[in-house]
Amino acid sequence: MAELEIKGLTVAVEGKQILAGLDLAVAKGETHALMGPNGSGKSTLAYAIMGHPAYQITGGQVLLKGTDVTELTPDERARMGLFLAMQYPTEIPGVSLTNFLRTAVNATSETDMPVRQFMVALRRHMADFQMDEKFLSRNVNEGFSGGEKKRFEILQMAMLAPEIAVLDETDSGLDVDALKIVSEGVNRLRGPDLGVLIITHYTRILRYVRPDYVHVMFEGRLVQSGGPGLAEELEEKGYEHLRP
Ligand SMILES: Nc1ncnc2c1ncn2[C@@H]1O[C@H](COP(=O)(O)OP(=O)(O)O)[C@@H](O)[C@H]1O
Ligand SMILES: [Mg+2]
Repeated sequence: MAELEIKGLTVAVEGKQILAGLDLAVAKGETHALMGPNGSGKSTLAYAIMGHPAYQITGGQVLLKGTDVTELTPDERARMGLFLAMQYPTEIPGVSLTNFLRTAVNATSETDMPVRQFMVALRRHMADFQMDEKFLSRNVNEGFSGGEKKRFEILQMAMLAPEIAVLDETDSGLDVDALKIVSEGVNRLRGPDLGVLIITHYTRILRYVRPDYVHVMFEGRLVQSGGPGLAEELEEKGYEHLRP
């Protein structure tokens, strides 16, 4: 059984159907890439997996470790080991990065992590992501550059140690150096206990984070799945020839 299973999923936003029956399974230890042109429904899928209230599931199922989570809140899903790095991370004025992460870590684990242990882990991961310690007291995403926001998303992932991580366009807006830092971060976290779904428009990140499987989405459906070679083919030919 894959830890994340999506079965015949249909999703509507503001009454308009966006996902039109999508099947996908991501097991721990696997890295999947989901690619597709702008507007094909990639972020809609990410939000539906996480349980964003604006994305209405009109049919099908999202299963986490065999449990249908379609009625569960995002918090409950996070406690089950799900993590979403958002395409457009939001600013949280008045909440420091440290307090935000501490609350998130404690909310998703059985017991509170001792402060010292939390700070040691946080500082270690920040050093890995080449984030200056001055960020510890900065408000979440407030005045962060695009690259800093994306690095913070992966820092959250490192601190929360999820079992399934969905990364929505974590590569977008990154220069090559930042892309390498973020990719190395993802690669460090990869392993037998983590399943990753990398959502991307471009093949660029897939040169650094090699996926085991590649899927192509078009108008709310998967139109092709394959191995890593599929990403290279898309790089050459683009998406149009796969339009159904
Ligand atoms: N919150 C929303 N409100 C209205 N329309 C939305 C919303 N989110 C997505 N859509 C629409 O759903 C379609 C798919 O969007 P999206 O999932 O963001 O695609 P992608 O991430 O592949 O670029 C688009 O037509 C988009 O306008
Ligand atoms: Mg998107």
